[in-house]
Amino acid sequence: MTATAVAPSTAPSAGVVLEVTDLTKIFGQLAAVDHLTFTVQPARVTGFLGPNGAGKTTTMRMLLGLVAPTSGTALIGGQRYRDLPNPMRVVGSALEATNFHPGRSGRDHLRVLADASGIPTRRVDEMLDLVGIPAAARQRAGGYSMGMRQRLGLAAALLGDPAVLMLDEPANGLDPEGIRWLRSFLRYLAHQGKTILVSSHMLAEADQIVDDVVIIANGRSVAQGSMAELRGEPTVFARSSDNAALASALTARGVLSTPSDGGLIAKTADPARVGDIALAAGLPIHELHPLASDLEDLFFRLTDTVANRNRGGDSGPGGPPPWQPPTSSASAQPPLPVVSSEAGDPR
Ligand SMILES: Nc1ncnc2c1ncn2[C@@H]1O[C@H](COP(=O)(O)OP(=O)(O)OP(=O)(O)O)[C@@H](O)[C@H]1O
Ligand SMILES: [Mg+2]
Repeated sequence: MTATAVAPSTAPSAGVVLEVTDLTKIFGQLAAVDHLTFTVQPARVTGFLGPNGAGKTTTMRMLLGLVAPTSGTALIGGQRYRDLPNPMRVVGSALEATNFHPGRSGRDHLRVLADASGIPTRRVDEMLDLVGIPAAARQRAGGYSMGMRQRLGLAAALLGDPAVLMLDEPANGLDPEGIRWLRSFLRYLAHQGKTILVSSHMLAEADQIVDDVVIIANGRSVAQGSMAELRGEPTVFARSSDNAALASALTARGVLSTPSDGGLIAKTADPARVGDIALAAGLPIHELHPLASDLEDLFFRLTDTVANRNRGGDSGPGGPPPWQPPTSSASAQPPLPVVSSEAGDPR
């Protein structure tokens, strides 16, 4: 074997980096995007996360040349979108899952797009096969389910075999099976060297899909890095009849722990290591499992550091308190929780 690297034949010659630098968009009095800086690397799936109204779509629209920045730059491979010689072959995007002509079949919709860009019609059928809706694409798009519209949007974005894929909330409305499909599909595309930016307003949902994250709130960056960094160190919860003795046994073997919830949290990824140490110390184990980070809580803490502008107006900087069930005697007809009042979308 020699050390010479051989590029796989399907990989593009070089990946394209997205570069957002000090990007700002002011609508009237509102800084929808506020001095935002981040990069998106090729061959990775990057999650662009933030609550409703955080500025995700506006940032993507600036990258795609659909909205002019007030200041700063949004570059694709070092160029503004409008300066790209053949944009459809560089960037594919799906900003809305609903902008198809309802009376036209999905396949005809793609054919119009392909014709306009000089893409051969056979590519339309290849993409419909790839996203798994070859038969449904012959029906009128007006009757499509949310999942089918998302897949048709993906097929449209991929028509020009672009190096960059920008998808706005592609998991919206997908069932668990659809999300699993999307995850493996995006992984397959990242493996080909594509640069993939996907927005979501749910970190827990994105966790299944993305490698890296850029988290924003009120148009500003609040966290960036790999998903693994964001999750933090893996830990294990353990409970024994004598937690203090278990903690001592773990410490003696180099595993740090802290008491928690009638047991302890050990800093290791491996529950078997905790179990083996307990066994060697003659301590019975009553509970032992890896701890998943509470991503929903983490997302809330990160994005709540600056009160979200699209949350209800007069509830103070932290927004309204979470919904509480009514006390037993209060009413025979308890009010329904109104989730949208916490994060209403003004559009
Ligand atoms: N054309 C516009 N004119 C005025 N305000 C706008 C315009 N477009 C967006 N906004 C405002 O800018 C802010 C950011 O909106 P944007 O759609 O980028 O957020 P988002 O993160 O995509 O939210 P969501 O999760 O709801 O899709 C919001 O307060 C929105 O109301
Ligand atoms: Mg949006």
